[in-house]
Amino acid sequence: MKTVLTCAQPTGNLTLGNYLGAVRNWAALLPGNECYFGIVDQHAITTDYSPAELRQNCLRCVAQYIACGLDPESAHIFMQSHVTGHTELAWALSCLTPVGDLFRMTQFKEKTGSSGAVDSGDGAPWQNASLSGKPQPKPLMNGGLLYYPVLMAADILLYNADVVPVGEDQKQHLELCRDLAQRFNHYYSDTFTIPDAYIPETGARIMSLQDPSRKMSKSDANERATLFILDTPEQIKKKIMSAVTDSDSAITYEPARHGIRNLLDIFGALTNRAPKEIAAEFDGRGYADFKNALVDVAVESLAPIRQKFDELMENKDFLQQVLQQGAAAAQKRAWKILAKVHRKAGFLEPLR
Ligand code: AMP
Ligand code: TRP
Repeated sequence: MKTVLTCAQPTGNLTLGNYLGAVRNWAALLPGNECYFGIVDQHAITTDYSPAELRQNCLRCVAQYIACGLDPESAHIFMQSHVTGHTELAWALSCLTPVGDLFRMTQFKEKTGSSGAVDSGDGAPWQNASLSGKPQPKPLMNGGLLYYPVLMAADILLYNADVVPVGEDQKQHLELCRDLAQRFNHYYSDTFTIPDAYIPETGARIMSLQDPSRKMSKSDANERATLFILDTPEQIKKKIMSAVTDSDSAITYEPARHGIRNLLDIFGALTNRAPKEIAAEFDGRGYADFKNALVDVAVESLAPIRQKFDELMENKDFLQQVLQQGAAAAQKRAWKILAKVHRKAGFLEPLR
């Protein structure tokens, strides 16, 4: 039995891309493995955010993942901040991390608009904070954002995970995690399993409905570009019927025809059929027919998810209970590793 762990930030609603490219594949790993799923609220405060929104998003996030098939009976679903050990292990790991490596992380550079050169950052937003009395925005280049990958490594190593399902964009962070595990094992002694990334192929890239050369994303400014798993049948219809295709009205599955290919990929992923076979079925029938059929498939696939989500949000006690049980199981495992790490680091054991 392998230990599978993944985490997600409690931000925004899940898109069809998240569902087909990530959540559905993680859910398939549940049988036969020891699975942990963390909602990383401590990661979520690295950028500017609203505490009230974060609080609300956490339960909505749990409900959406469960509605998408992450069965709380088979996976330990927990909030990062409910388990002692994530930030503690991150501290020990940070003492083995050259800061230059962190400044060079792609996600850090993207989020701060920096070049990757070591820079002390601009603390300007906090100047005169006490005088204005108003909440001040966070410094763009705050320490938390820089140390984000170390905390992520701690999320993984705290459970000695074997397999970590992630999207392509997290590959670099996972490499750092593997380096840190190896460094710790070498500097102290063998402690951590070196985790493997699991990057699923199917549904790996669902593209925007309005610009099929770009990935479907939570934060697209064009609201017709993204299908959310909680969209109503009317919203789904509107978005699919206005999806961008090309001037050739034949339904064929070809790499260069981005728009129609993306729609065929979605159709295929939702029905577990080969996109080419679907294209052959619609041969000579035109876009309107095909899009109408896709609307039916999408509505039918997403309706049970939305219904389950609504039911779960009516039962917040259940969601809290899931988190309580998830944190208890996670904590049990986390204490073991944390005690080992403290021992190896030379910390005196307290009398209990
Ligand atoms: P994010 O929405 O960036 O927080 O990503 C959460 C997970 O969903 C990651 O594993 C991503 O790789 C995956 N994901 C996000 N957008 C898409 C997409 N358009 N197609 C396939 N997978 C996606
Ligand atoms: N950084 C990941 C993301 O943005 C989320 C994350 C945090 C994560 N800790 C993790 C993913 C541990 C896998 C394992 O998607």
